[in-house]
Amino acid sequence: METTLFFALLLLLLISLVVLQTRRSRPPNRRLPPGSLGLPMIGQSFSLLKALRANNDQEWFKERIKKYGSISKLTLFGHPTVFLHGQAANKFIYTCDGNTLANKMPPSLSRILGKKIIVELNGEDHKRVRAAILTFLRPEVLKLYAEKMDKEIRNHLDDHWRGKHEVEVMPVLKVLTFNVICSLVLGLEGGPIRAKLLSLFQEMTRGLLSVPINLPLTQFNRSINASARLKTVVMDLIREKKTVLEKNQAQSHQDLISHLITIQNENPKSTSDDEIVDNVVGLMFGGYDATSSLISFMIKLLAEHPSVYDAVVKEQDGIARNKDLGECLKWEELMNMKYTWRVAMEVLRLTPPFFGSFRRAIKDIEYGGYIIPKGWQVMWVSSMTHMDANIFPEPSQFNPSRFNEQTTTPPYSLVPFGGGPRICPGGEFAKMETLTMIHYLVTQFTWKLSLKDNSFRRDPMPIFNHGLPILIFPREQDHAMI
Ligand code: HEM
Repeated sequence: METTLFFALLLLLLISLVVLQTRRSRPPNRRLPPGSLGLPMIGQSFSLLKALRANNDQEWFKERIKKYGSISKLTLFGHPTVFLHGQAANKFIYTCDGNTLANKMPPSLSRILGKKIIVELNGEDHKRVRAAILTFLRPEVLKLYAEKMDKEIRNHLDDHWRGKHEVEVMPVLKVLTFNVICSLVLGLEGGPIRAKLLSLFQEMTRGLLSVPINLPLTQFNRSINASARLKTVVMDLIREKKTVLEKNQAQSHQDLISHLITIQNENPKSTSDDEIVDNVVGLMFGGYDATSSLISFMIKLLAEHPSVYDAVVKEQDGIARNKDLGECLKWEELMNMKYTWRVAMEVLRLTPPFFGSFRRAIKDIEYGGYIIPKGWQVMWVSSMTHMDANIFPEPSQFNPSRFNEQTTTPPYSLVPFGGGPRICPGGEFAKMETLTMIHYLVTQFTWKLSLKDNSFRRDPMPIFNHGLPILIFPREQDHAMI
């Protein structure tokens, strides 16, 4: 009897060990994060799009995090997806190499924007193209363009603001950010080609979130055609610039295209003409919506917070007082606009143009006790840390002074420009443009919001439903320093 019991216990022990061992060696996809994948292909896509369009995305994310924690699975835009949130998730994404997590746009987007655009490149190709772009966008080079940017912004104010009683801020600022990119990146000053490019660009971007059916008369088809025509214009510009540079009739650093052609002449492997074209379109895309969103929200929040507005005016009047009439802003003066930039950072904390982003797992990845299977999409909502009360007390309050007290924010918590090897290369460009525009606005005008309802939606960047109309008034002569 005792022997039987002994063997029974031994058998039980062996079975337990086998079960334990089997569990340990189960294929990794058994430890998928919690959550439902929903209907194949569709999953939660419509629900998220609906939340974005109603500016309800923060609640949507919060609800998900409350239900499943900071890692869960779902299906978005045709792909099984792992959703991530939190400081640790931001760190994980920004420190992962391109062999683990890669950038991959949905095929419909790369069809419109191009396969050689930087956000579609990975590994060595990404490094090479990014290095070429950064030779132009790094501060030491960018400071040479402060004067060009300044003139472009003053022309814009003359054309679209001066003498007007009411201005619809967001659409007008999109024209500004497009023109600034045209001037600094393409070396294209105002005129019919620039106007044609703007309308082609707007037609192209309209199809980015459309149903990807390429049949005549569909928006997707119109966008593909607009993209092809836009790229033909850019390619013609490249050819023209090459001829001018060969004849030594232009300087290599006068705009990004000339800059890239010069690098190409020195090292033919640096970038191809097709890469230059796709990445010029990429920079238009990067520089257009995000910066106009930042400046528009800044104008709104300044109108709603008189004490912040007064402090910005004080800083900007101080700078204007030391300048001669018509003198352009210098890089050093822009870098001294410390308070105004804190206001911009607070605007970016509250309404970041990008709520998060997407990557693709190149292999099975272990994260947070779960497996992110090879081939799955990863979506992380980087900006949710901006609203974490443990990091930013009273997170819904607009309070730029929080950055006076909080001299250093914890790492990976304030990430409007992203992080790691794909951190926005246009951050300094956006800073220069925003500070220059706000300087001229507050030193030359005052403004009031025209409407009570200034609601916005995400498409996926924030867009004011009514364009943000404001009433503008020229400042008294003694205040207007320029
Ligand atoms: C307030 C303005 C801007 C914000 C908040 C912003 C934000 C971002 C963020 C968050 C990313 C990283 C996305 C990711 O990790 O998937 C990014 C990438 C990028 N941005 Fe910006 N951006 C701004 C302005 C600009 C401007 C003005 C330019 C061009 C002149 C630009 C060009 C780019 C490019 C080319 C990338 C891709 C970088 C890469 O993949 O290596 N951005 N931006």
